[in-house]
Amino acid sequence: MAESQNLEQFKGQARLPKFAIPKRYDIFLKPDLDACKFTGTVEIAVDVVEDTRFLVLNAAELTVENQSVWFSGHGYSEVLRPSEITIVENDEILVLLFSDVLPHGEGFLWIGFEGTLNDRMKGFYRSVYKHNGENKNMAVTQFEPADARRCFPCWDEPAFKASFKIILEVPSDHVALSNMPVTKEEVNGNVKKLYYQESPIMSTYLVAVVVGLFDFVEASTTDGINVRVYCQVGKSNQGKFALDVAVKTLDLYKEYFAVPYPLPKLDMIAIPDFAAGAMENYGLVTYRETALLYDERHSAAANKQRVATVVGHELAHQWFGNLVTMEWWTHLWLNEGFATWVSYLAADSIFPEWKIWTQFLDDTVSGLRLDALAESHPIEVDINHANEIDEIFDAISYLKGASLIRMLQCFLGAECFQKSLASYVKRFAYSNAKTEDLWNVLEEGSGEPVKILMNSWTKQQGYPVVDVTLRDGKLELKQSLFLASGSPGVGEWIVPITMCCGSYETTKKFLLQTKSELINVSQLLDSSITNTGEKAGCFWIKFNVDQTGFYRVKYNGELETGIRYAIENNKLSATDRFGILDDSYALCMASKQNLSSLLSLMTAYREEPEYTVTSHLITVSYKVIYMIADASPELSADIKQFVISLLQHSAERLGWDPKEGESHLDAMLRGEILSALAKFGHPATHDEALKRFNAFLNDRDTLLLPPDTRHAAYVAVIRAVDKTNKYGYDSLLKLYRETDLSQEKTRILSCLASSPDPDIVSEALNFVLSSEVRNQDAVFGLSGISLEGREVAWKWLKENWDYISKTWGSGFLLTRFVSSIVSSFTSDEKANEIEAFFATRITPGISRTLKQSLERVRINANWVRSIRKEDSLATAIKELV
Ligand code: BES
Ligand code: ZN
Repeated sequence: MAESQNLEQFKGQARLPKFAIPKRYDIFLKPDLDACKFTGTVEIAVDVVEDTRFLVLNAAELTVENQSVWFSGHGYSEVLRPSEITIVENDEILVLLFSDVLPHGEGFLWIGFEGTLNDRMKGFYRSVYKHNGENKNMAVTQFEPADARRCFPCWDEPAFKASFKIILEVPSDHVALSNMPVTKEEVNGNVKKLYYQESPIMSTYLVAVVVGLFDFVEASTTDGINVRVYCQVGKSNQGKFALDVAVKTLDLYKEYFAVPYPLPKLDMIAIPDFAAGAMENYGLVTYRETALLYDERHSAAANKQRVATVVGHELAHQWFGNLVTMEWWTHLWLNEGFATWVSYLAADSIFPEWKIWTQFLDDTVSGLRLDALAESHPIEVDINHANEIDEIFDAISYLKGASLIRMLQCFLGAECFQKSLASYVKRFAYSNAKTEDLWNVLEEGSGEPVKILMNSWTKQQGYPVVDVTLRDGKLELKQSLFLASGSPGVGEWIVPITMCCGSYETTKKFLLQTKSELINVSQLLDSSITNTGEKAGCFWIKFNVDQTGFYRVKYNGELETGIRYAIENNKLSATDRFGILDDSYALCMASKQNLSSLLSLMTAYREEPEYTVTSHLITVSYKVIYMIADASPELSADIKQFVISLLQHSAERLGWDPKEGESHLDAMLRGEILSALAKFGHPATHDEALKRFNAFLNDRDTLLLPPDTRHAAYVAVIRAVDKTNKYGYDSLLKLYRETDLSQEKTRILSCLASSPDPDIVSEALNFVLSSEVRNQDAVFGLSGISLEGREVAWKWLKENWDYISKTWGSGFLLTRFVSSIVSSFTSDEKANEIEAFFATRITPGISRTLKQSLERVRINANWVRSIRKEDSLATAIKELV
């Protein structure tokens, strides 16, 4: 009731009240690119549906004058001015109090406002670029998750969908883009006014505006949708690859979702200062340069793949996210997990030679790692304040999310899954949906118990390890929560089990619905042994076939022997080889298996031919070498020798020079193998790297160092310490300063702190904070910190924390400063020290990340202790080398 309303009741609430619903926004914006300010007006058509004297909407960092707010009922019959205007800063709301109850039905709220084009890469912000050698500002928006309110007052929640009609006033020589095409342009001397077509109804976080000087390339889809890639003047060639991918992807999604692309045009644009990787604004997708531009001569194969998958991801959102939107941030994973999964579908169709579904495993493994922490969170999480949203754009929402979608798709079958999905998109188009809505549609379409199955995965954090043992022709399966700490935990899942015995022809699938189950498989075993001609005693069973399930498997006794046999005798697919290695690694970290047995398993991968599996072997090796360096430094040289010997086969096959017509995957693998050998100090690689690096330093066009091998050469040169003249560091800095390609800049940044000399690490970290490194890129400088440099890095983080938290304070980039430096430690004492430092510095935006990083340190400490206890380790390593 109106009488009982008061201002206090609107404070501290997670969501806005629903007594007035926005229907349409008419927005006028006039950015001043030199003064970095903007002015604007918004007229919002609202539907007043309950008695109210208040209107409550979002606004933040905007100046709203009392005399520039009014409301009028239907037909503008009477203009009402609010008697009180309050901005509640903490809650980022604007509360308007009127002296009388507002008339029900349609009304118009008019607000004039001013703001600053900020430097924080959110809301309406400025990005700096060079044009004809001079620095210029462009104006860019980034509204997800909750920053549209920093550009114009609005009901800034995904469920308040409305249509948007935008007018911009900008310098007449500038390009100004928004979600929809321009319908009218009025030029008046050196300013122009652009009127954009009204959008279909959409959420505020997807509204976008970009103003600057750009070139573009363009093409059309088979439906005649105009697609453009915009980038800095003179670089439009670099947009061609993304353009081609976009056109193909749009055609593909139209088929897959069985709904045409919903808007009249699609623009994609590279922004030099950009916090995330890319943003799916409806009809105007914004990207980091590294995620959109591809340079034939200086981009690596990995860069190319990144561009294709990011484009595939953002375009998937045009349907999944933009047309059908999550009802609230609790369901963010629906958006992100789904778009991530679909982007692999697109990449697989356009570039089958990339074997992207195998690579999917390597990408989603960080979901398995994060979810093995006690400090993980369920996929569906309560969100009570806008500042809690940023932190859930994490590996759980993206990668566990994508993995669960894949698991479900494999369980239901690709065709049934696609059909149901298409009806979901149709049913919820121009509307909002919750996780359950998707399950309902899939349940209807498949007749399977989707909801109960999936609830066990989305409402509960973590995932199970399934322990398998063979006893008298019966299989015993036991599930329990897997924690990387090795601690026991509670949890029970409905696990879609798949298994194959002796061959991919003999398979079985069922749902494991209880803690443990006994299955009679004697027949299956007998037939698999006779069918495949295996000798008795050489049978094998692989569970979680092709790793499509989000769980781990622990093989016991003869099953373990069988798996080893299957790998060595080439019986398994690359995905299964990957899974066995990763499960064994994870079990070892959790002290459920000793390190010697992991190392022994690794020897079975000596002749591994597949990119993704070898790449993962390298990742596992890095970590093992790192742990041994702390646990038993006297074994360091031997373990490095062992790993180098494992990689020898691939290294010899690939060499340094690209082969005519070689595969994309070989190009990527070469880079990774050489980088690893350089990092582990392999002398021949080192010498060759330095030779090639010098050739490159003298001539940027030399064929001796193509983009795929540059990272390896940079690692080698920075690891070659020469205290007297810092040759490596200085040379890399020279290259950094000279290049204007973002991918090259990040490649160099990610090597600078890998020096074994702590002084150079310290210098590199200070450089990262200098004006020569864009704020968006600073985190890359932290990615390669050497073991020798980690103490210096921690000291640096403490000394600079005030500056860092002020500069990166309100976004997920700050969390990366914490995680990359903190997680590198391996002792409980260090964890305590770090915890003490942050005790007084914790904020909602980093608290989850800090807890997770500290847990990782304690897990490392555990692992170090078990390695030290492993008596026969030294002998085992010696035997393996
Ligand atoms: N919606 C996100 C962008 C985003 C991320 C906005 C975090 C606000 C906070 C976008 O669709 C996205 O997921 N981008 C990814 C790239 C993608 C290929 C995984 C990113 O930014 O890393
Ligand atoms: Zn996304």
